[in-house]
Amino acid sequence: MEEEKSSLLLTIAVLGGTGKEGKGLAYRWAKAGYKVLIGSRSSERAVHATSEVMEKLEGSTSVVGMENLEAAQLADIVVLTVPYAAHRETLESVKDALKGKLLIDVTVPLVPPKVSKVQMPAAGSAAQEAKEILGDDVQVAAAFQNISHEHLMSEKDVDCDVLVTGSSKAARTETLTLVEAAGMTGWDAGPIENSVVVEGLTSVLININKQYGSTHSGIKITGVNHDK
Ligand SMILES: NC(=O)c1ccc[n+]([C@@H]2O[C@H](COP(=O)([O-])OP(=O)(O)OC[C@H]3O[C@@H](n4cnc5c(N)ncnc54)[C@H](OP(=O)(O)O)[C@@H]3O)[C@@H](O)[C@H]2O)c1
Repeated sequence: MEEEKSSLLLTIAVLGGTGKEGKGLAYRWAKAGYKVLIGSRSSERAVHATSEVMEKLEGSTSVVGMENLEAAQLADIVVLTVPYAAHRETLESVKDALKGKLLIDVTVPLVPPKVSKVQMPAAGSAAQEAKEILGDDVQVAAAFQNISHEHLMSEKDVDCDVLVTGSSKAARTETLTLVEAAGMTGWDAGPIENSVVVEGLTSVLININKQYGSTHSGIKITGVNHDK
């Protein structure tokens, strides 16, 4: 991981950044001043998504669209926002480019059509599966699984917290900096094994959305001083 560069000098690649969640995160980080690369299987789709984000930013910022592999190669930190069905294939296609970097996995291992039921993969969670695929050369953190994309493109404050798990303290700390830059409160929720709970919570929230007529329920941690 790049530990010497000041945080804002880091380049973030969002693989699958043409989609709902990835585009929202790309927007928030670009707005915070990061250089952001939007990755896609198609450079045309990446460029299109980049124009959408740039239009919303209304100013000169640094967002560039390209294919997933090139984005992963050029970035310091790589964020994965693809449906679970594309998780393994996407990771394998960029594995070599991720060596020595941090991967932040946003993937929730939903198995349609029963997305409101927790169905974890054999590795324990999507993030653990990513770690298994990528090996010791890549640090993996998991974050944002409980944040609906609807919050990310909105200008409003996000009244939901982000639980961050990861394969090392450094991976979690670096991810927490990006959570804050995206305008949310993040919590160090411990080792990557704990990502099973966070990823599973998304199905619980989908359930709550269905039963109580929402599309963007979230969670908040209470009873603890965040600044300690
Ligand atoms: N949507 C939310 O509110 C939300 C909230 C929390 C977590 N998440 C998680 O974030 C991830 C992305 O969610 P999303 O709603 O943004 O998904 P999405 O819009 O359906 O897809 C995101 C991108 O993934 C790529 N993709 C789709 N199918 C693919 C395939 N078969 N192979 C390779 N790439 C494929 C596409 O990019 P290209 O076609 O450009 O390659 C697409 O734009 C999911 O794991 C989801 O569970 C989503």
